[in-house]
Amino acid sequence: MSECESAPGESAFLERVKFEPMRVRDLDEVLAIERISFPTPWSREAYHRELIVNDYACYIVGRLDGVVVSYGGMWVVLDEAHVTNIAVRPEYRGHGVGRLTMAALEARARELGASRMTLEVRVSNAEARRLYEGLGYRSTGIRRNYYSDTREDAIVMWKDLSPRETGLSPAGGGP
Ligand SMILES: CC(C)(COP(=O)(O)OP(=O)(O)OC[C@H]1O[C@@H](n2cnc3c(N)ncnc32)[C@H](O)[C@@H]1OP(=O)(O)O)[C@@H](O)C(=O)NCCC(=O)NCCS
Repeated sequence: MSECESAPGESAFLERVKFEPMRVRDLDEVLAIERISFPTPWSREAYHRELIVNDYACYIVGRLDGVVVSYGGMWVVLDEAHVTNIAVRPEYRGHGVGRLTMAALEARARELGASRMTLEVRVSNAEARRLYEGLGYRSTGIRRNYYSDTREDAIVMWKDLSPRETGLSPAGGGP
């Protein structure tokens, strides 16, 4: 049984996940998740550039008892936030960590002045599509052959970040 499954209760487990800005010292843990989550993982250099050089980039990690269990990132330009990446450590998936991580990104995007959020998702990524749809993201179009590794199409999704549009129900155990 994984550490995650042995948690006393779903909401108790989620309440222990704390979000903070991603730092260079997190990259070993982030890259371990990245490499098993994506067909073409980003390199250490790519993340390093995002954290150090890109003024528009904002990356967070979710920690459970000090261990990185999720991360996500976005570029915030004026009133738009563009999600670049999100992943959950495989043994913690399916328990609401992904939803919590997106909610944390959205909260940070609002703080930085964004009023809407956009992302691309592979057509074949059913888990991610359901995650985003459940949070109120709506498909607005298709980018043909968007992913250079597989030539797969991307679905473009948008969400209005007005205060009521959290996508989390009041009793949903969110942050
Ligand atoms: C996509 C990902 C971030 C979801 O994280 P997660 O912690 O498993 O998601 P949650 O437990 O918060 O689930 C939220 C919703 O996602 C959907 N979902 C999650 N896992 C699913 C699965 N195995 N099958 C179908 N839907 C799933 C469901 O709609 C779920 O809501 P529900 O529990 O009310 O049905 C995770 O699967 C992941 O890291 N995947 C690899 C990286 C990736 O594809 N990132 C997205 C790039 S666009």
